[in-house]
Amino acid sequence: MKRSNAPGTLQDEDQGDAKKRIVVLASGRGSNFQAILDALSEGSIHGTCVRLISDVPGCYAIERAKYSRVPVTVVDYRAFSSKSDYEKALLFAMKECCPDLVVLAGYMRILGNDIVRSFHGKIMNIHPALLPSFPGLHAQRQAIGYGVKVAGCTVHFVDEMMDSGPIILQKCVPVLPDDDEDLLSERILHEEHRCYPYAVKLFCEDRLKIEGRTVRVL
Ligand code: GAR
Repeated sequence: MKRSNAPGTLQDEDQGDAKKRIVVLASGRGSNFQAILDALSEGSIHGTCVRLISDVPGCYAIERAKYSRVPVTVVDYRAFSSKSDYEKALLFAMKECCPDLVVLAGYMRILGNDIVRSFHGKIMNIHPALLPSFPGLHAQRQAIGYGVKVAGCTVHFVDEMMDSGPIILQKCVPVLPDDDEDLLSERILHEEHRCYPYAVKLFCEDRLKIEGRTVRVL
């Protein structure tokens, strides 16, 4: 629906089809962030990236945001004397954006419970493993070390536990005999860049319904 300024005419918001406000949190290179930015600029996601928040000054995700004219807030973890103070500042920065959706795109810290509860059902994460296998750091290394034949990525909602929230999408890739961590990571990342924008698209179309541990795609 097009916006209209005519008196008494319903606008986007009134029709419930306003673009979703997306805030991205990233700590590093930001290739998943870029995949989402690309999908947004192609118009395949009904949303707007209103801000990138990063805990790492100078990370490459910030360059990507600047290039796409996405406003940036840096909440530098090292500038705070405690995790709790950092989390308060981060929560404040997030709330200021009034997000419909918070996307963790290589955000390498565990979100505190206050933040998770403040945005219940509105925070997504991508993890480079088929959860619940290999949560935590170095998932691809864990997969190689365990000798699995199939690996992949998982997009999930975030709950109070690490890498444990309801699963939205998963995509698998083979683990080949000569794989090392880098080769497997690259193969998984290729799928991440397809999965994550698609999950964000579904959210922005109100097509994800959480029922207990199950996420239904409508
Ligand atoms: C991605 O592989 C993502 O799945 C992983 O970090 C990488 C970030 O890459 N996230 C985690 O391991 C979170 N537990 P990117 O910065 O290029 O998107």
